[in-house]
Amino acid sequence: MELKKEILEALNDQLNAELESAYIYQAMAAMFEEEGFPGFAAWMDMQALEEQEHARKFYDFINERGGRVKLAAISEPPFEWDSPQAVFEAALEHEEYISDRINNLVSLAREHDDYATEVFLNWFVDEQVEEEDTVNEILDKFEKVGDTNTGIYMLDKELGARKGH
Ligand code: FEO
Repeated sequence: MELKKEILEALNDQLNAELESAYIYQAMAAMFEEEGFPGFAAWMDMQALEEQEHARKFYDFINERGGRVKLAAISEPPFEWDSPQAVFEAALEHEEYISDRINNLVSLAREHDDYATEVFLNWFVDEQVEEEDTVNEILDKFEKVGDTNTGIYMLDKELGARKGH
């Protein structure tokens, strides 16, 4: 079944949103690099790569369904955040926004009886639960250590040990 125009546009929009996510996390990584938090920087760097992979999944799916990928401008990400904790709070907020977008996409696919798109999106539904959970756990740790330098230092070290996704 060929992709309906409305679905194609929504998938292309989400491809863009995933690239925008990569851009935001890369900006976060860059701030951490400069401020001397190599662990947080490595974590965010990996996150940015993961978002590029998400974008690639949309790219491949659109092509497989015979649609035409249309790339669009990516908005400029923020440059500065107030603290490491504020960065992760912004990351959680962003992931919640992405989860909403994915849910809306599922609704749209259902409206159009596009089951192939719905099945494709299921992976993202699961992924969003995992992403929100991971960032929530990190924020819990920030709450525990408060703004003690030793605590933040340990957390930076811990997050730097992130392997794969
Ligand atoms: Fe691709 Fe973090 O959502």
